[in-house]
Amino acid sequence: MRSLKAIVMASAIALTASAAFAADVKIGFVVKQAEEPWFQDEWKFAEQAAKEKGFTLVKIGAEDGEKVQSAIDNLGAQGAQGFIICVPDVKLGPGIVAKATANDLKLMTVDDRLVGADGKPLEDVPHMGISALKIGETVGQSIAAEIKKRGWDMKDVGAIRVSYDQLPTAVDRVEGAITALKAAGFLAENIYDAPQAKTDTEAALNAATTVLNKHSNVKHWIAFGLNDEAVLGAVRASESVGISADNMIGVGIGGAESAINEFKKPSATGFYGTVIISPKRHGYETALNMYEWIANNKEPEKLILTSGSLAVRGDYEKVRAGLGIE
Ligand code: GLA
Repeated sequence: MRSLKAIVMASAIALTASAAFAADVKIGFVVKQAEEPWFQDEWKFAEQAAKEKGFTLVKIGAEDGEKVQSAIDNLGAQGAQGFIICVPDVKLGPGIVAKATANDLKLMTVDDRLVGADGKPLEDVPHMGISALKIGETVGQSIAAEIKKRGWDMKDVGAIRVSYDQLPTAVDRVEGAITALKAAGFLAENIYDAPQAKTDTEAALNAATTVLNKHSNVKHWIAFGLNDEAVLGAVRASESVGISADNMIGVGIGGAESAINEFKKPSATGFYGTVIISPKRHGYETALNMYEWIANNKEPEKLILTSGSLAVRGDYEKVRAGLGIE
């Protein structure tokens, strides 16, 4: 039998060893659009995991394929053991896997799931994303409820579908919204596609402006898309052509600063609501899972899908607090 003293000493040594090891752990967190508040929040929560566990977090913004390649080489050269990435283009999948392997780096994706040459997801790469269809349905249902509340006749309502169809999660989100809207009696022929060239507000504004100009006879408008930026772009476009807030219902997805700022404005805008998703789970939990993989050889789950909660001007503080993000 080991004496109590021996056990205490052994565990003290183990503790010191793991603390020393944690200091050697370096994890990359690469995002496609560093200026977007959602990604700033993901980084913030990943930092929290780094502080708690004592590892180093390397944050890199990479908005195209070339930057992703050099980011991965850079992490390899710095002696990182793994990284989490939200890619600028999911079709880079096989190339990213090869680069990670060549640099001996463990790989996890967040938000946007990598696809292979056949367009199917690379199921071996652990991924955390949102339940895109379901969250899209929440968007559609909340818009439909507000249309009813405002007493609009469905035939007088046009929809701006701000789209980014090369990204599967974007397609699922808008399709979810459309399914819910149609179920509530929305007319399919009144849905107009506004393809954005990039997933930011400016690109969405340009895309939505084209739709609004083409259909200037429409009485009331609704808008939905991939994220808050997409819907904010559509709302800004509606304002620029003189559509008043009470003739626009936009519901986004995200709930980060860009949406919250909208709710803080003294009077309501056409940005009616947002489905708040959790940057804490996407940042903190992915970083923690990567750490466990590196330090304790505990492989993360292959697929985790997170949920969302609708928030509007009047209740966003409560919803955020409930999600632990304030
Ligand atoms: C995509 C979008 C982001 C954010 C995340 C959430 O990456 O571009 O704005 O919505 O999904 O998973």
